[in-house]
Amino acid sequence: MAKEKTLRELFHDTLKDIYFAEKKILTALPKMAKAAQSDQLRAAFEKHAGETEEHVARLERVFGEIDHKPQGKTCDAIVGIIEEGQDVMKEYKGTPALDAGLLAAAQAVEHYEISRYGTLKTWANELGLDEAVKLLDETLAEEKETDAALTELAESEVNLHAEAA
Ligand SMILES: [Fe+2]
Ligand SMILES: [Fe+2]
Repeated sequence: MAKEKTLRELFHDTLKDIYFAEKKILTALPKMAKAAQSDQLRAAFEKHAGETEEHVARLERVFGEIDHKPQGKTCDAIVGIIEEGQDVMKEYKGTPALDAGLLAAAQAVEHYEISRYGTLKTWANELGLDEAVKLLDETLAEEKETDAALTELAESEVNLHAEAA
């Protein structure tokens, strides 16, 4: 009989997924910051790159709480989302719509993270992993703040710039 998979295994697997994703995001954000035309958008990407380093460190502590070594597992979703962002950078380079495209790509990344962290926090709660709940919640809050800040930028400067052209 096949071994029954447990919620603990699912939690560990999903932790590997988001660990891979955060590391991928860490390499993508500086490129997006470099590509951004708006100073505010660049600053938002740079700020979140710093926070993302902290997200990786928190995940390493969560791995510790379940007695596993930090390890990533290829996350096709984030690879695809980041590839789309890179396509935007190429296709809209030097155009007024570039920042709006970069911003949209960044929000897709944040929404993916919000989804993952929300799920992981719920599972950590069910598994009684108190420290993990706290750490995952701290990151979740920063992802939500970043998403909100990007929305604000989208509604003000960046999209206006795209429209004025
Ligand atoms: Fe993150
Ligand atoms: Fe993020």
